[in-house]
Amino acid sequence: MDIIIRDNYEQMSQTAAEYIAGLVRAKPDCVLGLATGSTPIGTYRQLIKMHRDGLDFSRVTTFNLDEYLGIGMALEKPFHMDQSYARFMHEELFRHINVKKENIHIPDGLTQDPKAFCAWYEESIKKAGGIDLQLLGLGGDGHWAFNEPGSSLGSRTRVQALTAQTLDDNYEAFYKNAKIERSQMPHFAITMGIGTILEARNILMIVNGAKKADMVAKCIEGPVTSQVTASAIQLHSGGITVVLDEAASSKLAHAEHYKHVESMKRQYDI
Ligand code: GLP
Repeated sequence: MDIIIRDNYEQMSQTAAEYIAGLVRAKPDCVLGLATGSTPIGTYRQLIKMHRDGLDFSRVTTFNLDEYLGIGMALEKPFHMDQSYARFMHEELFRHINVKKENIHIPDGLTQDPKAFCAWYEESIKKAGGIDLQLLGLGGDGHWAFNEPGSSLGSRTRVQALTAQTLDDNYEAFYKNAKIERSQMPHFAITMGIGTILEARNILMIVNGAKKADMVAKCIEGPVTSQVTASAIQLHSGGITVVLDEAASSKLAHAEHYKHVESMKRQYDI
């Protein structure tokens, strides 16, 4: 696991964007797994800048982790609410880069048949050749995507009920300013499962802020448990990169060691 600690959010975002851009340059038809939330916004802004400087997304395929059930979806359909992840992705990334509409996949929050949709989503990832790089944030309760505590570490794309903490966190970040009542927020979501995420060939997790420092320590240094679904990162067998800002890394017992390892890797190119 490569654990990279940067001074602040901007540097964390820059490092993450460079990593993603490196893959897009090396494999122009790569499959990217994308995430929502406030954390990746800086990374997306950097990618947009890189696109303006020539980074080409025309052959890239994307799969988003999750979507609220009851709102959304497809970019050509009207949005029910501004808070859909489809809208977020469109605003924060897709409309600024040259990714093709037909190559974008986001779970359909308006599906009439969630079960069939989830099976189709899994199948589509397989058909695309699997995900080369999955970008992830970290939920306040330790979740990846919407895999709330208690989700099986082998879980697949499915409907998940959201915890009170997740509703509170996301209300503060995305609903309050839009003057939407907390009671009106969707209480369910379609989410890729932990098993689905672990099949990505590479994982890139980004976390910032002191608020998540305890959860970062649990996820990286604590036991692997379905109570902190992001702790499944310790089970991944491919490339794992975690980029943190200083504040998010502040509760890690071995932060100094991770910094040492990173500087050795840079120095000796290993
Ligand atoms: C939501 C998303 C997650 C995201 C998390 C953290 O729950 N489903 O994918 O990681 O929020 O969001 P933020 O980056 O705003 O803290």
